Amino acid sequence: MSDREPRLPALVIGGGMISQEVVLPTLFQERRRGRIGDVWLASRRGATIERCRELFPDEAFTGFPTGGDPEESCPDAYLEALDAADEKTLVVVATPDHLHTEMVLAAIDRGLHCIVEKPLCLKVAEAHQIREAAREQGIYVLTDYHKRHDRAIRAAKTRYASGELGEVLCGHAWIEERREMPLRWFARWCGESSPFEYIGVHYADAFHFITGLLPRRVFAFGQKKLLPTLGKDAFDAVEAVVEWANGSVLYIQTSWVLPDGHTALTKQGLQLTCTQGEYWADHKDRNCYFCTQESGFEHYNPNFFKGYEDPDDPGRIEHVGYGYDSILQGIRDVQRIAGETREMSHADALARRRAMLEELAPIRALPGQALVGTAINEAVRLSIDNDGAQIGFDLDLNLRVQ
Ligand SMILES: NC(=O)c1ccc[n+]([C@@H]2O[C@H](COP(=O)([O-])OP(=O)(O)OC[C@H]3O[C@@H](n4cnc5c(N)ncnc54)[C@H](O)[C@@H]3O)[C@@H](O)[C@H]2O)c1
Repeated sequence: MSDREPRLPALVIGGGMISQEVVLPTLFQERRRGRIGDVWLASRRGATIERCRELFPDEAFTGFPTGGDPEESCPDAYLEALDAADEKTLVVVATPDHLHTEMVLAAIDRGLHCIVEKPLCLKVAEAHQIREAAREQGIYVLTDYHKRHDRAIRAAKTRYASGELGEVLCGHAWIEERREMPLRWFARWCGESSPFEYIGVHYADAFHFITGLLPRRVFAFGQKKLLPTLGKDAFDAVEAVVEWANGSVLYIQTSWVLPDGHTALTKQGLQLTCTQGEYWADHKDRNCYFCTQESGFEHYNPNFFKGYEDPDDPGRIEHVGYGYDSILQGIRDVQRIAGETREMSHADALARRRAMLEELAPIRALPGQALVGTAINEAVRLSIDNDGAQIGFDLDLNLRVQ
């Protein structure tokens, strides 16, 4: 890598599922390719760090908390890591949704650029706070909305932008997961989230990404029938109807209680009806499956984030797909910002960073765009709490119960 694209040290906060399956493999791969330098991982419990060491026995990384009882809860260990981090460090926030704000603000406060797992945060007021802090300090904060990189979504965006579909009228999205998500993976925090906040928001963001439209009002409904019988005060399913600025309507159906026997963890897709055409895509069934004695029948999505034998080094696995592309976009943007502001005075570097961020704002899930998903998430919660009431938005996407 050149001086214009320096290697970035990386600090991952949160060592759970997405870090183990996507974030860390991506960072280790990019370290081999020269984009990433030292990797640090801060999680709440030492046991999580140990688990990641077992998963990646050949990859060196520094873990926080250090020492002590591996089961002890250390919710502030990430602050120790942030305080010790090199000034070029790229921070990746991969903690439960409701914790993102404090971690992103702590990174911004120390002048560190971030990638944050979707959703940016759960409250519009917090998204505004993050946007303002990032603007003030000239800090890059990208929300990892990886569906923006799925070619099935990029195709819809490209052909919608070309005008051949005409204007969007209505559509529906479905995204539902097997019950292992709230019962096994998110057993500790499923009650703080919901299938809409966790996965439905992908399609709220995808609709905004494809059409450029902002939401006008939302109605939502939720059901708690199965999970409470299994000891979880959490929604089984949540549905939302979103009206957009041009009067079009998207219905988003979500759940996370599909039976264990479902043929993929996530069942998902999107349909759009426009004045001059239709888009329809099954984002689960990519017409590819495996059936083995050990695992039975599985639908296989070759596009998301998969490891394939590296054609140049068949002994190694190369990770590709939209989960990878999304994080790579953040790494490359931050490399470019670091490269262009290298050796500048503090004031010049700040001015250049702000200018670069202004150029990126219309084309990236920086806080201005990530606000859309956060606003719809919060509106869905508020609507359900108000018995399906209509929630409207002002121009800054602040909510109003109507
Ligand atoms: N980009 C995507 O499509 C995608 C996919 C899955 C998850 N996510 C998002 O990623 C985030 C994490 O999800 P996950 O599936 O990995 O959840 P998870 O529960 O498996 O992992 C979260 C981790 O954060 C740790 N943590 C909690 N409090 C912490 C603290 N104070 N300091 C440091 N670590 C702390 C937990 O111990 C856990 O290891 C969520 O925001 C989720 O919505 C995004």
